[in-house]
Amino acid sequence: MKNLLTRYGPVALVTGASSGIGEAFSRHLAAAGLTVFAVARRGDRLQDLRDGVAASGVGEVIPIVADLRDSGAADEVMRAVTARDLEVGLLVNNAGYGRLGLLEQVPLTESLGMVDLNCRAVVDLTWRIVPGMKRRARGGVIILSSVVGTIPAPWFAVYSATKAFDLYFGEALYGECKGSGVDVVTVLPGLTRTEFQAGSGLRDYHSPYRSAEQVVASALAALGRKPIVVDGPFNKLLSHGARFLPRSVVAALSRLVMRRELRL
Ligand SMILES: NC(=O)c1ccc[n+]([C@@H]2O[C@H](COP(=O)([O-])OP(=O)(O)OC[C@H]3O[C@@H](n4cnc5c(N)ncnc54)[C@H](OP(=O)(O)O)[C@@H]3O)[C@@H](O)[C@H]2O)c1
Repeated sequence: MKNLLTRYGPVALVTGASSGIGEAFSRHLAAAGLTVFAVARRGDRLQDLRDGVAASGVGEVIPIVADLRDSGAADEVMRAVTARDLEVGLLVNNAGYGRLGLLEQVPLTESLGMVDLNCRAVVDLTWRIVPGMKRRARGGVIILSSVVGTIPAPWFAVYSATKAFDLYFGEALYGECKGSGVDVVTVLPGLTRTEFQAGSGLRDYHSPYRSAEQVVASALAALGRKPIVVDGPFNKLLSHGARFLPRSVVAALSRLVMRRELRL
């Protein structure tokens, strides 16, 4: 495993750090000796994270309470970083949520919130942070997409579209940053044991769950090596398998699986 401190410098910013994959990223990066700006809405969770890391004696977590659906949030986050005269060397665009249901069943504010958080905030923070990385010729960007970003999912239409956006954005950015000293990787987890399922309205699947820590390990192993990584063998089979089937077959299979999920 590469030395994160040497490769990316001493400061990381992780969005969605109060639970699941973002929390696991924050703990891992702090354990590697980094100062982690941890962004989420639940300040109590971020304080617990900060205290846990402080007790370990390695690294540091600085909580930033912000709702990244708000258009002014990225500005607020960047002000908290520059107020300490620090520059972000590793950006983890992780915060995200999904809502299961027919397009018209999911409240519009929830659907637009998904677009704001899963897409707009990712562009906003990346736009602000990548130029500094390029100037220093050193940096890393991790973007959380999903296996669902490769397979259009009925009853999860907005979510799967936002994750397709993340995938295309990340892959294209990888191409732009190649040779600049800035590593970019887009991560495609499948079912991962976090608070995501309950929040999205998904039931408990029997499929093999991955852990947040496994997703983090996959992401960091791929960063600087390849543009995208699908986490776990079952998810690799799903998303790579889908590439060899006609689009119409993928869409029909996806509809079948989602109908089963919703017990329609
Ligand atoms: N778990 C899975 O099966 C799975 C599969 C594929 C992809 N993913 C992706 O992985 C990423 C992490 O999800 P997870 O599984 O770790 O889910 P999670 O446990 O629900 O964590 C989501 C994080 O995002 C934060 N967040 C939500 N809304 C926010 C907002 N408006 N502003 C700021 N932060 C916000 C949450 O914190 P607060 O509520 O405190 O704000 C939380 O820290 C997401 O992008 C998700 O799409 C997950």
